[in-house]
Amino acid sequence: MQYHVSMLLPFLSLLTSAVDAAEIITTNLTAQHFPELGSRRVKTTYGSHVVQSRKESDGMSQFQSAIAPPCVDCTITFMQAGLEYLDGTTADATTDMWMHHVVLLNRGRKDSVCAAMPAQRFFASGNERTAVDLTSTFSALGTQHLGYPVAENDTFVVSGELMNMLDTSQEVVFFMVWEFLPTPPTYFKPAVPFWLDVGGCGDSDVPAKPGKQFEYVSPVLIASSHWDIAFIGGHLHDGGTHLDVIRNEEIVCTTEALYGTSGLATGHIARMQTCLIAGSTLPGDQFYIKAYYDTKAHTPMATANNDTLEPVMGIALAYLVASETTSGSWFSRATLIYIVVTAVVVTGLAGLYAAKQKPDALDRLFEHFRGRKWQRVRTTDPETDGLDAEDGLLLYGQGQTK
Ligand SMILES: *[C@@H]1O[C@H](CO)[C@@H](O)[C@H](O)[C@H]1NC(C)=O
Ligand SMILES: *[C@@H]1O[C@H](CO)[C@@H](O)[C@H](O)[C@H]1NC(C)=O
Ligand SMILES: *[C@@H]1O[C@H](CO)[C@@H](O)[C@H](O)[C@H]1NC(C)=O
Repeated sequence: MQYHVSMLLPFLSLLTSAVDAAEIITTNLTAQHFPELGSRRVKTTYGSHVVQSRKESDGMSQFQSAIAPPCVDCTITFMQAGLEYLDGTTADATTDMWMHHVVLLNRGRKDSVCAAMPAQRFFASGNERTAVDLTSTFSALGTQHLGYPVAENDTFVVSGELMNMLDTSQEVVFFMVWEFLPTPPTYFKPAVPFWLDVGGCGDSDVPAKPGKQFEYVSPVLIASSHWDIAFIGGHLHDGGTHLDVIRNEEIVCTTEALYGTSGLATGHIARMQTCLIAGSTLPGDQFYIKAYYDTKAHTPMATANNDTLEPVMGIALAYLVASETTSGSWFSRATLIYIVVTAVVVTGLAGLYAAKQKPDALDRLFEHFRGRKWQRVRTTDPETDGLDAEDGLLLYGQGQTK
């Protein structure tokens, strides 16, 4: 029997169905970033799951739990997912126990990209175990400090799918390693997660094609304000080679899939590269992602009886931070002022000329601007930035109409 649950379907049921709260055990670890600011690093386990043998439903098992955030009124600077056995040893592709995918959502916030999502997607992981590490982005330059803020009433949900490649069942524990600042200084800016998906706002699964190179692109997103792109992580399935994030037809980030080279992990994606500080956005910038597959070079996943290929995915999770100035990597503030001043002068002259030629043309010109939907101009107030970010006004696209 083919049994495949999309990444999306569980999200849509989050609002309506009750989600069991997982049994949470938290262990203190040694903080690695900002210990001088009282940061904490914890490992939190969220209960165990028995994943049936590969003979049943291809060894695929879904789980979903409400989980308490690791802290309240705080900011998260690092997060990474993992699986382990009851004795604490690592469960991964080398032990035939796959983290097919795990997604974390915040029910206290709206998704930044897809308005119809019942919660904000802020973390994803697969076998590649990519860490969302906001400490190594701007803070590495000593200029900006970032975190994913957790508000008083935020509640998290984890939705995942595990895959057992053995002919016997395996019991595993899902855990997260978090690092956070219980009382972040006000100069820590809120980082906002954006989920770009070749499936758009629909199903993340797209068909795999056997023995060939193929690509998938996401719908285009249009930036409506000025951001700096702090972090990008990519997610592909076996067969994938790399994923590009493209701004105005220019690649701003390539994350390559790195394949395992030993033991059972051989030929499976073991790691995905991440991009740090991948430029900025200006209002009107067009973004999309392109996921590249080569199933001749890398064998894609098939069902247990090897008659059908599993669907594949192409996802990029980007963390953006409201830009402090307009001095992005390709536009200095002076250039921008020059462009704005020139535009205003040219528009003014054109208007005067039009008015002189045809008096009612000026009215029509004003009418044109009045009729426009002006996009929100963001403030740089750290208190309100995080709140504005929840309005879903930052980027348009992926099924949303402007
Ligand atoms: C972990 O650290 C926190 C904060 O320092 C402390 O309150 C808590 O008691 C510690 N937990 C354990 C089990 O040591
Ligand atoms: C959080 O929830 C409590 C209880 O429902 C409510 O009184 C409080 O106003 C909420 N806080 C925020 C910031 O929404
Ligand atoms: C599944 O099919 C592929 C492609 O035809 C083949 O290379 C592979 O050996 C098969 N695996 C099994 C377990 O039959």
